[in-house]
Amino acid sequence: MWRQAKWDVEILTEIDNSTARGSGPEVPFTHQFKDIELEVPEELARKTEPNIPSLSELEVVRHFIRLSQMSFGVDAGMIPLGSCTMKYNPKILDALALNSEIEFLHPLQDEDTVQGLLEILYTTERWLAEIVGLDKCVFQPPAGSAGEFAGALIIRKYHLDRGEPRDEMLIPDSAHGSNFASAAMAGFKVVKIPTRGDGCVDLDALKAIASNRTAGIMLTNPNTLGIFEKDILEIAEAIHDIGGLLYYDGANLNGIMGIARPGDMGFDIVHLNLHKTFATPHGGGGPGGGVLCVRRDLIDYLPRPILVREGGKLRWDYSCGKCIGMVRAYHGNITSALRTFGYIAMLGPKGLREVAETTIINTNYFIKRVLEKPYYELPYSPEKPRKHEVVLSAKKILNDTGVSAEDISKRLLDHGVHAPTMYFPPIVDEALMIEFTESEPKREIDRFVEILHRIAEEAYRDPSKVKGSPTATSVGRLDLVKANHPKTLAPSTRYVRGEGGSR
Ligand SMILES: Cc1ncc(COP(=O)(O)O)c(C=O)c1O
Repeated sequence: MWRQAKWDVEILTEIDNSTARGSGPEVPFTHQFKDIELEVPEELARKTEPNIPSLSELEVVRHFIRLSQMSFGVDAGMIPLGSCTMKYNPKILDALALNSEIEFLHPLQDEDTVQGLLEILYTTERWLAEIVGLDKCVFQPPAGSAGEFAGALIIRKYHLDRGEPRDEMLIPDSAHGSNFASAAMAGFKVVKIPTRGDGCVDLDALKAIASNRTAGIMLTNPNTLGIFEKDILEIAEAIHDIGGLLYYDGANLNGIMGIARPGDMGFDIVHLNLHKTFATPHGGGGPGGGVLCVRRDLIDYLPRPILVREGGKLRWDYSCGKCIGMVRAYHGNITSALRTFGYIAMLGPKGLREVAETTIINTNYFIKRVLEKPYYELPYSPEKPRKHEVVLSAKKILNDTGVSAEDISKRLLDHGVHAPTMYFPPIVDEALMIEFTESEPKREIDRFVEILHRIAEEAYRDPSKVKGSPTATSVGRLDLVKANHPKTLAPSTRYVRGEGGSR
């Protein structure tokens, strides 16, 4: 059985500085900076010392090692978190992204002094444009949802410039929540398009709903059920015919990369999540990237600055005639762009295609194996192959035993496997959304199937055991409301607002 380390770790500022410190060098913060004199105006200069803990290097190293032992990442075990594309990020790309020659550059540095870096960005941008089949990309949006928001603003501005204040955005009911939020934030009324029994967008419903009020559609393909929208060309035609634009949510590119291109399917605007498909660590590993790409006649609308080549040199073009403005400071998360550059350069066109092919094989192998036993169900065309992910339903287990998708997910933690995405997309009851990516070897997928079967059998035999999980993790089952609510969110086990004061 797997067991996670459990330490009672204090926050560094909570450690009593008056107690004797361990020997060994102190963390060299003050030494490094003590000779630097800054011209800080008197009235702004602090009058007291900052409350920085005085600790030895060893104490700090132990602190962070212990914290790392209590957390979980893809380097420690499988994270089959559907829709999130949690794949292994090759370590060599850390070296590239943390290169000190790049790390200390300033975003406003004279362009003549950073031509090498700009060349990398420009090359990466060209590669991504080729991969998605569009004409120009910018790295500015810091996340997929930020890319969606920028894309929705482009769609709004495009129609306003044509004297058509269209106010409706079509979004399938299987879409990620950020699509609805981005469209609403950009000022659109969201119109949900239903999913057909085969798991694809209901084309008839779409045609009936589309009108001269439709600004566009936001779609991901393969969709969040992992199914390829086979009617995509007809969908594109229907939207273009009424003067709308197609936005591609590229979070699912891992399932088609190197095989099919959104631009060829008729999409006009695309975002890609560099922290999903292109080797930027996801979540706590660092900033993400939601690169945004458009077809030629929408380039003027892209957030500024954009990178242009003039007289053999690359420079940032800040001119913003029709543009939507900036969606983030400066040029985007450059380290994500560097990782993307390294990843594409390492794999090449053949390797990128292999990523998608391996991802698809992994998903379909898993489906075949998990359905060998009668516990989990596959709604929406079970006979149809999936692409990068699959959404199982634990409804039968819930009905028979009272054990829910959430309970199953928690029990998985006891086996050293991260929980899948739960209850999404909302069109599947008791959804368990599973994605392996290309990273997971066959034996890990086999192990995962066996664990899922074992948990289902446990649910029928002793449901309380599953419901009482996890027990092998550093933290037991959290109260989801308390853990997320600003009034009860606690940054430390000893810090409970309203219960015992605020240390
Ligand atoms: C299908 C889909 N679209 C959009 C997003 C939003 O991307 P981000 O989390 O980078 O904002 C996600 C994120 O998980 C996603 O899975």
